[in-house]
Amino acid sequence: MLKIINPQRKSSYQLPTKVYFGRGAIDLFPEIIQERKFKKLLLVAGEHFKKSNKFNEIVRKIKDVKIYENVVKRCDFININKLIKFCREDSFDAIAAIGGGTVLDAVKCASAVSVDGCLVEDYLISKKKEVSRKGLSFLAIPTTAGTGSEVTPWATVWDKGKKYSLDSKYIFPEVAIVDPALTDSLSKNLTSEPGIDALCQAIEAYWNIHNNAISDKYALESIKIILMNLEQAVNNPEPKVRDAMAWGSLLAGLAFSNTRTTICHAVSYPMTAHWSIPHGQATSITLPLFIKYVFPVLSKGKLSKILSAMKVKNIIEASQIINDLMIGIGLKTKFSDLGITKKDVDLIVEEGFDPSRSKNTPKVPSPLELEEMLYSIL
Ligand SMILES: [Fe+2]
Repeated sequence: MLKIINPQRKSSYQLPTKVYFGRGAIDLFPEIIQERKFKKLLLVAGEHFKKSNKFNEIVRKIKDVKIYENVVKRCDFININKLIKFCREDSFDAIAAIGGGTVLDAVKCASAVSVDGCLVEDYLISKKKEVSRKGLSFLAIPTTAGTGSEVTPWATVWDKGKKYSLDSKYIFPEVAIVDPALTDSLSKNLTSEPGIDALCQAIEAYWNIHNNAISDKYALESIKIILMNLEQAVNNPEPKVRDAMAWGSLLAGLAFSNTRTTICHAVSYPMTAHWSIPHGQATSITLPLFIKYVFPVLSKGKLSKILSAMKVKNIIEASQIINDLMIGIGLKTKFSDLGITKKDVDLIVEEGFDPSRSKNTPKVPSPLELEEMLYSIL
């Protein structure tokens, strides 16, 4: 029976991306290209995947494909503009990215901006331009389990220590292929950091003020799956655990694609900008603190659902299991282990209220409260 939830509240969920999920799904890629009648494809792959037999096997099966030979190590203005220039020099109608979040986000930007006569900074710094139409058809194939970029309508760009976001409903990927087998050979760090980021994204989607019944379902399932599998995926990976993590990460992407993130992400950006703290480490270090701060303002029903998904009895236990998980997967829980000292906290507080993210939190701390919270993890 269909149950109408809170009809007074305007709530909608959008996902224009066609998602293929499953071990071996990458083998469908040549078929998908053919089915969609793309005339000329540009393929951008991460360094690791480019060296694999699977990469050669796929390329052999696609009729008109050009490989982007440069390495996209960072999603910054130089790398994105190089890609944009390359796209404009030929007549591509589709562009595919196979890689981690950096490759996916750089290609996502290029797919949108290359159909215009501008540079990416015209969209991000001067804001002379905004993405107002669909660009090249973009196909996203993640090789890590965590960023969710394959189903989100934005791309994160870091340039000279500053974080930007290209954001538009027109940049949802057209197709996402999530094949857990592509994550089988990931290192511990490339499993733990994106994995804990996905968990943050799911929890932040759940307590988000823009949540809806659909994003909540995805978020709760994602939280449950990631908590059950992340530690094993890092310390003793086997295919079924990799499958679960890829699924949990996709669900987190589906949840936060419609809500965006909140205070954990906002506070993480200065840590990454000034101390180069990897994204997943930076977003998760405050998660145990914000669980204690935000969970008490959730409604009774909502709180009980997330505690049940986390398999804990109360808020203190919920905060503690995140802390224990971080230690179990080799992440740091104290600033001192990351080279951040008491005097640095001022800068994190000053820059940690990226308004577009922190205001999505149902209870936003004052600068003084945030300072006190951050002192507790020195
Ligand atoms: Fe994230």
